[in-house]
Amino acid sequence: MAKPKKVFYCQNCGARHSQWMGQCPVCKQWNTIVEETLSRQEAKKAGPAKPKPVRSIPLSQVTGQTERRISTADPELDTVLGGGLVPGSVILLGGEPGIGKSTLLLQAALRMPYKVLYVSGEESPAQIKLRADRLSPGQPNPNLLLLPETNTQKIFRELEQHLPDLLIVDSIQTLHTDYIDSSPGSVSQIRETAAELIRYAKHTATPVFLIGHITKEGIIAGPKVLEHMVDTVLQFEGDRYHRFRILRALKNRFGSTNEMGLYEMTVHGLKPVENPSGLLPDTLSEAAGGTAVGLVNEGIRSFAVETQALVSPSVYGTPQRSVTGYDLKRLHMILAVLEKRAGLRMLQNDVFLNIAGGLRIMDPALDLAVAAALISSYENMPVPSYTGFAGEIGLTGEVRPVAHMDRRLAEAEKTGLQRVYLSKHQKITYQGKLELVPIGQISGLLGMFPG
Ligand code: TYD
Ligand code: MG
Repeated sequence: MAKPKKVFYCQNCGARHSQWMGQCPVCKQWNTIVEETLSRQEAKKAGPAKPKPVRSIPLSQVTGQTERRISTADPELDTVLGGGLVPGSVILLGGEPGIGKSTLLLQAALRMPYKVLYVSGEESPAQIKLRADRLSPGQPNPNLLLLPETNTQKIFRELEQHLPDLLIVDSIQTLHTDYIDSSPGSVSQIRETAAELIRYAKHTATPVFLIGHITKEGIIAGPKVLEHMVDTVLQFEGDRYHRFRILRALKNRFGSTNEMGLYEMTVHGLKPVENPSGLLPDTLSEAAGGTAVGLVNEGIRSFAVETQALVSPSVYGTPQRSVTGYDLKRLHMILAVLEKRAGLRMLQNDVFLNIAGGLRIMDPALDLAVAAALISSYENMPVPSYTGFAGEIGLTGEVRPVAHMDRRLAEAEKTGLQRVYLSKHQKITYQGKLELVPIGQISGLLGMFPG
């Protein structure tokens, strides 16, 4: 037997080192390097079937058939995947604990007309059954098999016996392989167990879902390298204390990463949200100081979201900045622009910014609504009723055009807005009832207040 090999892995970034160090030279984190043991030879032998010999093929002889897609019986999930599951693809579903990863995949497994093996290293079959009853009180999938197991060799034995159409692993951090000594959740275990499962997926053309927990910093716990190994990385985000969840593709070899799925967590599991603008409070007509409605696009969808800002004189020397659902760096930028280009003394104030409903918005078109909410709170004057905003803000204070304005405006009209602020450089073909207010500079927003 080969001598076990000692290696050192950074538990944060997955970098491999020849010796222990206090700080990882790659990701600069302290105390993240851990010694792990692996016997390389055996690790190589691990995994299921032997690979078939392959030969290089001229491109011209490759038939350009489109891949077959397997529907997950969840339209939102299918959209984010780029039209369903591709046979043999491996999808990593990341998210903070408690966000609803197990719920999402169990729900799909219960509804799919396929044989699904759900491997759980976290919950017992009895716990899963309880949850399944809640999710699907009707007739659940009779071909759903539960396997409480964390050893990959035993999982492969089950797979050979049952040959499921889909494998779900909850979670990759609980798995361990016989060929490596280190504990489950360590970098070498995650890397090796994932590699074994990926080999299985490719050789049998079975799609595989891997659930992965995410750390506070928002990275999939364990090695980043996992993200490079799989075909698709989905992220389930939102605030566990709010109802709404966003499913995004961060990487997708089989589809676009612009798609998003929107869910609402209910007592009967995750429900797709068809009309996200319905999230808007009914108080559209009596806007309070510090709130503004932004027209955003996420994926193929346009909807209206409420941004809330609170600007108040700072009690401490260093003003506080806190944001939920929006990029903190962008908030800093908008504050600096408001200070410099609109003459508002923002920098000495504490600023809190919140996107209502627990959504996290990436669309830069929200900038203008954020600025409007900030100005409104600063000036202590509500934004005029039934007003929406859509525009990106540049460093010189200019309001810039954003993509798909017609879709945003159509949504604004549906939501019941009457007026939309946008960039004066925006090209539009819209011919509806909305009053459009084009502005060139961020200071143009000051014109929204009477007097
Ligand atoms: P879970 O899927 O266990 O999260 P994860 O696998 O990402 O850790 O779901 C977590 C939360 O969802 C849990 O706090 C309870 C809640 N929940 C509901 O509100 N309704 C439901 O029908 C289910 C199944 C869970
Ligand atoms: Mg779970």
